[in-house]
Amino acid sequence: MSLGTDFVVIGSGVAGLRASIALAASGANVTVLTKDKASESNTEYAQGGVAVVLSDDDNDELHEEDTLVAGAGLCDPEAVETLVTDGTKYIKELIDWGIEFDREGGKLSFTQEAAHSRRRILHAHGDSTGKEIVRSLIARAGREKRINLLPFANTESLIVEGGRCTGVQFLDPILRAPRSIRAKAVILCTGGAGQLYQHTTNPSVATGDGMAMAYFAGAEMADMEFVQFHPTALSLEGAPRFLLSEAMRGEGGVLRNVKGERFMGGYDERLEMAPRDIVSRSIVAEMRRTGSRNVFLDMTAINGEFLKERFPKIYETCKFYGLDITADLLPVSPASHYCMGGVRTDLHGRSTLPGLYAAGEVSCTGVHGANRLASNSLLEGLVFGARAGEAAVADESGPGRAIAVSDAGKVARPDEITTRSTGGSEISTAVRKRVKRVMWERVGILRDGESLRRAITEFDHIASANLSTSSRKFVTLATLVAKAALWREESRGAHFRTDFPEPIEAWRVHSVQKLGGSIFRAGRIDPNSVSATSNAEARA
Ligand code: FAD
Ligand code: SIN
Repeated sequence: MSLGTDFVVIGSGVAGLRASIALAASGANVTVLTKDKASESNTEYAQGGVAVVLSDDDNDELHEEDTLVAGAGLCDPEAVETLVTDGTKYIKELIDWGIEFDREGGKLSFTQEAAHSRRRILHAHGDSTGKEIVRSLIARAGREKRINLLPFANTESLIVEGGRCTGVQFLDPILRAPRSIRAKAVILCTGGAGQLYQHTTNPSVATGDGMAMAYFAGAEMADMEFVQFHPTALSLEGAPRFLLSEAMRGEGGVLRNVKGERFMGGYDERLEMAPRDIVSRSIVAEMRRTGSRNVFLDMTAINGEFLKERFPKIYETCKFYGLDITADLLPVSPASHYCMGGVRTDLHGRSTLPGLYAAGEVSCTGVHGANRLASNSLLEGLVFGARAGEAAVADESGPGRAIAVSDAGKVARPDEITTRSTGGSEISTAVRKRVKRVMWERVGILRDGESLRRAITEFDHIASANLSTSSRKFVTLATLVAKAALWREESRGAHFRTDFPEPIEAWRVHSVQKLGGSIFRAGRIDPNSVSATSNAEARA
């Protein structure tokens, strides 16, 4: 059976919620499908905060400059300008809607994070910024009668008819059966793919489903090789890789090796405040040099009462694992954290597949380049979620775009190949475990041609088996990352090739991949259009 709505939004993190509010504001009916409970998302776990130009000593140019520097020459300046200028507007709106950012004496309180030239990070309840953003957006969306949120509705594929995305196929949580829903347009806000790696700060929902669905539906994917590894995830046997926020270093925390020596001075003059790709690689180098499995974050020089109040969630979580952040050295090592690449979009969230929009971590607007500046991601979700919603309304309001409310003949789904078999759940678990391990060992913080080729061979081998739909999506996504990483024969931002350790000017281009084609290079992502071939410079 097929249902109808005006717009489908997939995902209820910051991007999905903000897009839904923008769509509903136009008077449209919006159906939000989300895989787990409404709050379960990367957004919910965001700690450090959201970067925004609101303090007296800050301005747009400084925030833009910091973003461009962190992006290592691959940010699109127009995307960065949009992020920063619209960012202030949308954060003010969030404050008007009732979000409770932390304040000191009534004034907004700003913290510092790596590679920011100013204290410009707003935070909430100390280290629970994401939770407060989700709370305030769900409350705001809840006031819109036109938004219908369906939790535990796992979306499995996009429906493509006549070269256009016209809906989605999802698993109905009540009927426990596949169902399709048609709409004027689909806005993909499914977040990132940190779970591709054995060690990650991301929750279990972050398996990159939206990226894989878009790829199989025929949309272009950009910059998949750029995966950010956060330097300081808690590294304890048997415990999840709980994030120890960069804001802890921003408040004076230092990194020490197993001998107790502060080592960042040997790697970068900005010490612990260097961009996170540099800190992550320095930690790996130090672990190798000292033959250890972790380094330590040392907060002991900072007032204990301040730490408990500033980082209450981190304090409690570490206490659960037997660590006192005010007194103990905290074992940390890097873990996968954020995908700079994703569904290639313009600055209005339009993908290269008509009818499909993408916003937030699932997308690649070019705003982060080769390495995202800390705390720019929540801002990205807010800004580009709103812009995608607004663009979808404007684009699809013309004649001839009425919704279909019943099945309209044969549904052309390029991902039909993925549905050959459902496979056993044990096999799926084993496939994921293997892929995650290979990604960590061969497509991780340090890569080289041989490790990448071996990873691709293994993924091809896994893919030749009779896999479940979700396993096939997972291994396909891993292959996209590995192939882009092999293709880019230089090091830039978060992508570090030990066999090509320097950035090379000729590689200051985006990688683009599309189903059935080989990787090609593209110049800047056109801010107003991403038609499939518009800015392709050359086939590699
Ligand atoms: P998400 O918030 O991840 O939401 C994705 C949504 O899609 C979820 O609702 C999910 O259930 C749903 N979904 C996924 N697949 C499907 C499917 N198949 N069907 C239906 N629904 C699906 N960034 C900052 O700027 N500042 C920070 O302080 C910060 N701290 C972080 C701390 C942690 C521990 C982590 C993991 C990330 C942090 N980040 C931070 C990054 C930031 O949180 C994310 O990049 C951002 O929240 C992504 O928002 P999103 O809306 O794009 O995706
Ligand atoms: C953190 O709090 O360290 C995460 C910030 C981010 O990912 O932007």
